[in-house]
Amino acid sequence: MDILATPAEMRAWREAHSGRLGLVPTMGYLHEGHLSLAQRSLAENPATVASLFVNPAQFGPDEDLKRYPRDEERDLRLFRELGVDAVYMPSLEVVYPAGYQTYVNVEELAGMLEGASRPTHFRGVATVVTKLLITVRPDRAYFGRKDAQQLRVIQRLVRDLDLPVAVVPCETIREPDGLAMSSRNVNLSPEQRAAAAVIPRALELARRGFEDGTRSAEALRNIVRDTIAEERLAALDYVSLADSETLDELTGDIERPALLSVAVRFGGVRLIDNAELG
Ligand code: PAJ
Repeated sequence: MDILATPAEMRAWREAHSGRLGLVPTMGYLHEGHLSLAQRSLAENPATVASLFVNPAQFGPDEDLKRYPRDEERDLRLFRELGVDAVYMPSLEVVYPAGYQTYVNVEELAGMLEGASRPTHFRGVATVVTKLLITVRPDRAYFGRKDAQQLRVIQRLVRDLDLPVAVVPCETIREPDGLAMSSRNVNLSPEQRAAAAVIPRALELARRGFEDGTRSAEALRNIVRDTIAEERLAALDYVSLADSETLDELTGDIERPALLSVAVRFGGVRLIDNAELG
């Protein structure tokens, strides 16, 4: 497995591997969710590059950049064992050298849901993903549905900037109790970790309500609110039932595919999850 540290090294590698290429962007501290993206890319492309970069531009001033868990050695071992061909692992100074001042803004999508409480988050995501796509030049890029808004922001920027890449959405990988795998789960205390199972439970109850014929957007949001409220350690940041593509909040009865999403805090740890309805 080749380890590449600069855009020049990455581009040279790409020149030498001209076939179909899959890219799996990550911030490391790998779990089964990340690995499922890499496995899918390995199955669908003759070569796969994973990237490993904890992107400061997507963390707010009060957010958990310093606390973000890291284990480079283990990450590289896991990618190597899977058969990933190369890992692009640029340093902070390489991605954002002194004087850096160019950002990609996906204007409307970036301000909703997560963007409301994290105003610069998607600007950071969009910028680093654009840089990765330009440098790596993959044919396909793999992203998890767990980060539903991020996926839509990336699909939008790829269309808007005419980037020649297919964005491949991948299913959310979950723990046995339903909690979506996340690098942040390690920051939960054992009590908070047990309580966090309320998130998939609430989404599942709403999904069942939808399947049993409930169409009122507010009624479906209320199923989630009421379920989360029963868990003492959980504090609901938001629940949203939105148009699946534009993320515009829905009122009245839902008639088109909709995205039900939540952000829930357990002490200082903020978790997100979602379910597609229809
Ligand atoms: P990170 O949180 O490391 O996630 C990397 C990729 O793994 C993302 O596409 C994310 O949606 C996916 N992923 C995370 N948890 C998952 C799960 N339980 N099941 C399936 N896929 C999952 O998302 C980022 O990094 C960054 O924002 C990044 C896109 C790399 C840009 O910095």
